[in-house]
Amino acid sequence: MSEDRTDRERSEASLEDVVALCKRRGFIFPSSEIYGGVGSTYDYGHYGVLLRNNVKGEWWRSMLTERDDIVAIDSAIIQHPKVWEASGHVGGFSDPMVDCKTCKLRFREDHIESAQCGRKPSKRPGEGPDCELTEAREFNLMFRTQVGPVADSSSEAYLRPETAQGIFINFKNVLQFARVRPPFGIAQIGKSFRNEITTGNFIFRTREFEQMEMEFFCPPDEAEKWHEHWMAERMRWYTDLGIRPENLLLRPHGADELSHYSSATSDIEYLFPMGYSELEGIANRGDFDLTQHAKFSGEKLEYFDQGTGERYVPYVIEPAAGVDRATLAFIVDAYDVEEVEGRKRTVLRLHPKLAPVKVAVLPLVSKEGMPERAREVFDSLRRRLGSEYDEGGSIGKRYRRQDEIGTPWGVTIDGETAGDDCVTLRDRDSLAQERVPIEGLAERLLAKLDEEWTSPKGE
Ligand code: GAP
Repeated sequence: MSEDRTDRERSEASLEDVVALCKRRGFIFPSSEIYGGVGSTYDYGHYGVLLRNNVKGEWWRSMLTERDDIVAIDSAIIQHPKVWEASGHVGGFSDPMVDCKTCKLRFREDHIESAQCGRKPSKRPGEGPDCELTEAREFNLMFRTQVGPVADSSSEAYLRPETAQGIFINFKNVLQFARVRPPFGIAQIGKSFRNEITTGNFIFRTREFEQMEMEFFCPPDEAEKWHEHWMAERMRWYTDLGIRPENLLLRPHGADELSHYSSATSDIEYLFPMGYSELEGIANRGDFDLTQHAKFSGEKLEYFDQGTGERYVPYVIEPAAGVDRATLAFIVDAYDVEEVEGRKRTVLRLHPKLAPVKVAVLPLVSKEGMPERAREVFDSLRRRLGSEYDEGGSIGKRYRRQDEIGTPWGVTIDGETAGDDCVTLRDRDSLAQERVPIEGLAERLLAKLDEEWTSPKGE
């Protein structure tokens, strides 16, 4: 399945352009900005929330709606501290860090090549004349907190660093109540927290982020087959949602890279502005997690097949994706700038299913009954698909705004609408305009939404 890396090292869009667009159009803002910000945390504005909801919705669709072998779960963020002992996170979820005694900054030893010296940003840490780096030390990435009113070691807990363990500890509940048998999966979307030493590249690596993880439990002798299946399925998910295949690759981990629980992992990597980087990991976790939790909890975590009398601990295949990273990849892949009639047009060529707004309803001018008719059209559409009404400013400006938030279709009500009950339907990508009747407009747009879509970028 592995593909060769292309010789391209960067995507066409720069991270600065993407960050500026996200701020300008209210997708994503630095968090706590009025207080000067807090390192690498971000807040999502209106269009950011809608886009992320669509990403999550498409993930749920692929896991639940389109299959009948996966069930959902939503587990707590704060779990019993023993969960993290059993999972290996207390003992081994750490990165090697070095401190600089001069500038007091902390770096990940394995990221030092791409880090900047605190005093001389043009140099790497250790290269500046005053740099004084310590030996590397292991730094646990879990956030600690206290549960209850007394702050002592008995009340110590952690914010979950992955959603996966919330699935393993519910294996028995699901087996009992969801009437499933291997092979079957349990899927979850939720926040995770890691006290990352090196953050950066916008929402690519943050300390608070959202994961979309699915643990697929299968008979041990089927694990390899399901690993192949999930690698192909997850690659397809991204390309079906418009990511250009030439910007994706599947990279198997080398033996020295594998996590303690994994016998085989492949990463789906995307060509971000900073180069190819992990978007999602697909691991064969074997029976590591169920066996560990059985040992630490004293509960039997296995499957008993009443038909054959067979008893076994299922193996687990785990596709683990990040909502924020996927969102960033979709934005980067969609970002485009072109010249139209001598003017620059910035446009987010998002897959219509992901676009925060599907259709913008625009009166050509704010007079002659056009706003009233436009509002009627808007009211008839909004219940059927994500719509926005926009009346302010010139029509050109309103089109540009919708282009930048990635709205695939615009509907303009003009002077002729009162007579012919038709509107102009504008296509974001081709800029084609056609005159279509108001009657049946929602059905026409819903049918378009269901059509296959490939990115026109680079055509
Ligand atoms: N349960 C396995 C697991 O958590 P991971 O590779 O550490 O594996 C899975 O994380 C995905 O979660 C990553 O591929 C990435 O998309 C996302 N992710 C991990 N750490 C992140 C961070 N600090 N910021 C944003 N996303 C992150």
